[in-house]
Parts: sequence; structure tokens; C-alpha cells
Amino acid sequence: MDKKKEIKCHKDAIKAASAIYRFPLVDVQGIPLMNSIAKNWSAVQAFRPDPSDVLISTYPKAGTTWTQEIVDLLLHNGDAEICRRAPIVLRIPFLELNSPPPIPAGLDLLKSVQPPRFMKTHLPIQLVPEGFWKNKCKIIYVARNAKDNLVSYFHFDQMDLTQPEPGPWDEYVQKFMKGKSWYDHVKGYWKEKEKRNILYLFYEDMKENPIIVKIMQYLDLSRSDDIIDKIVELTSFNVMKDNPMANYSFVPKAVFDQSISKFLRKGEVGDWINYFTPAQSQIFDEDYARQMADVDIPFHTKI
Ligand code: A3P
Repeated sequence: MDKKKEIKCHKDAIKAASAIYRFPLVDVQGIPLMNSIAKNWSAVQAFRPDPSDVLISTYPKAGTTWTQEIVDLLLHNGDAEICRRAPIVLRIPFLELNSPPPIPAGLDLLKSVQPPRFMKTHLPIQLVPEGFWKNKCKIIYVARNAKDNLVSYFHFDQMDLTQPEPGPWDEYVQKFMKGKSWYDHVKGYWKEKEKRNILYLFYEDMKENPIIVKIMQYLDLSRSDDIIDKIVELTSFNVMKDNPMANYSFVPKAVFDQSISKFLRKGEVGDWINYFTPAQSQIFDEDYARQMADVDIPFHTKI
């Protein structure tokens, strides 16, 4: 097929997939969630974790997959082969996920695993099922610089054909500020972290100073320096982007079209500078100062 025709076919396929998948988000207790998750809501809330279960929580695009890979490697002594036994969503299920195939629903996957179970969530703290608090489960939370998080999400929304279209960049930035969900998410976990024994980490620290030992200690594990070094290497951006069990290439193109943007896209700190105009940045910073005035979260890079 000649190049022009190929591009047109590709665009038509994306359009068709978009028409099927791009559902609007649905409001659940004031939080916009994917339609499929909203439908599954009572089952998620009724989930009964074991006290030994561990939850990895993040705002989407803050480094969830990276953290999952670190945890899985820590659990398996840095054994790269064992950690390539299955895609990351099967190794560490996504609690509330209930989307179209091929990824099985999180609750179904968790049913077939014995505690201690490791799972991920993007739920804000107020929507985390009560059982996690009753049973004092461990929670690893990762936050990322707001502007980098937003840039990453903007690209993800383009390639994830199950999400609403992100629209133009400027509107996306406005929506992020008005939506408040990032601010509520990072602040919600921050305010509760002592009371609820949450390990609160930053993407930027993971980048400059691998945080693997902190996670290891929190999980009451002990691994040698050699194993830690191996995990640092195996969870570097360059290794993970080529790892088919971590880079989401296992999700078909009709769902994640990685020709639009890769799941492991750049993995950089400060990439926002390439997207925000100085004017957008100033407005964002002023709004950020207002929205974050009641907390002092020590983000690594000041926005
Ligand atoms: P970018 O879009 O900025 O590249 P999540 O897993 O929560 O969806 O987050 C995805 C973001 O984390 C992407 O950011 C991705 O590249 C980045 N990421 C994933 N693994 C990484 C790693 N090993 N090192 C640095 N960044 C990583």
C-alpha cells in the first residue's frame, strides 16, 4: 500500500475505534470516572482487602507502572525473567478497572490471588474502599510535578482511545486547573499520610535518587545491594520502554494507539517547559499557589 493510503487507512481505523470507545466520564461522588468503572462501583466499594494487601496509589501518569515494576522486582529478588511472566496489569492488578478486553477486570484478577496481594488504584483517598483503612493496609503513594503530570496525561488521552478526546492544549490546561482532581488527589493522601501510614513518594526522587530501598523497608523486605542495583537498572526508563511486559504493547492498537504517543513516552522531569507558553505557565503557577495554599508538599522541582 502506498504511504498516503496507509496513513488514511490508519486514520480511519482510529476514527472508528474512537467512535466505539471514547465514552464521556461519569460523575461518582463528585469525581469523574470512566463509565466502565462507574458501572462497577458498588463491587469496588465492597472489596474486602486482607490486612497484608498493599495498594499502590497515584494520580494517573504519575509513575504508577514504574512503581509497580519496582515492587514486583523487589518481591521476586530482582529476577528479570520471573518479572516478565505476564503484563504488568496481570502481575499487579488495577483494582477498579473494568474496561473492554483484553485486560481482565481488577476484581476478577484479585479473586484468584492469595494474600498478600499487590494492586494499583487511581482513586482519590475519599473513594478508596473502607476495608483498606479498617485493615490498616499499606499504601504506597506517588505524586508527580503538576505540569509534567498534565503533559503526560495530555499525550495519554490522545493515544488511549477509551478516554474522552483531550481537545486543544490550551483547553486541556484550563480543564486541569478547573477540574481540581489532581490537587484533591495529591493533597488528600498527603494530609492523611501519618494517620494512615502511607508511604508518600515523588516521581522526581525516583528519577534522581532511586527510591527502591525506601519501598523495600516499607514492605519489610530485605534485599542485597547487588539486587537493588539490578532493580535500578531493570526499572530504568530505557529498559522498561523496551520491556513488552511493562510498556503496554500488549494492549491492542484499537485501545492504546502507541503510534500516536508511547505509553513510556519520555520519562523526563521538566518536560512541561516544551508545552506551556510563558503566559500559560504564569496563570498555572498563580492558580497552583491558590489551590495548594493549605499544604506544604515538598515537590522536588518547584513548578
Ligand atoms: P511521560 O508521559 O512523561 O513519559 P503511569 O505509569 O502512572 O501511567 O505514568 C506514566 C508516566 O511515567 C510516563 O511519563 C512514563 O514515561 C513514565 N515512566 C514509566 N516508567 C518510567 C521509568 N522507568 N522512568 C521514568 N519514567 C517512567
